[in-house]
Amino acid sequence: MLDNPLFDASDARLFGRDINIDESSDSFFETFYRHFLKAPDIHELFRETDMKRRVVMLRTSFFRLAAFYVTSHPSAELERIGFIHHRLGVASDHFDRWLDALVATVAEEDPLCDQTTEFAWRWAMTLGITYLKLFNYYQDKAHP
Ligand code: HEM
Repeated sequence: MLDNPLFDASDARLFGRDINIDESSDSFFETFYRHFLKAPDIHELFRETDMKRRVVMLRTSFFRLAAFYVTSHPSAELERIGFIHHRLGVASDHFDRWLDALVATVAEEDPLCDQTTEFAWRWAMTLGITYLKLFNYYQDKAHP
């Protein structure tokens, strides 16, 4: 496992020790979507998605990206997510803004979050984000 104690500690403060995110983290999701849906183009992409599905998406996102971070190996599920998002028209820039919204949320919700903790989160999520961005790039290239 990669060593990122600041990420592990912040993750544990926010979500506890369980792998599943529990109900006490509701405000985390609300804060995330408050940040993420500020941009009209992203808001438009989620127009027909209710909050329940949004929470599922964010919960699954963490799990998949964190699994990639731990194993350094993209799962079949991450590839499926790549296909779905390419089809939805999610672009590279959207993935960057997803990460920005996530880090802004951690900064707001984790009382001990500082600049190094923010970096630790970016570090943990970047591998998966890079995978999804590259996936988009090659799909665009293969089907222009
Ligand atoms: C950063 C990594 C991301 C991960 C791991 C992720 C993961 C997921 C997952 C697991 C689903 C559910 C797919 C299914 O099984 O039906 C989903 C749906 C979706 N995602 Fe993402 N997502 C990410 C980023 C984004 C971004 C950046 C956007 C748009 C700006 C986006 C927009 C959507 C939309 C619109 C849906 C469909 C929701 C619905 O079912 O109505 N996602 N995502």
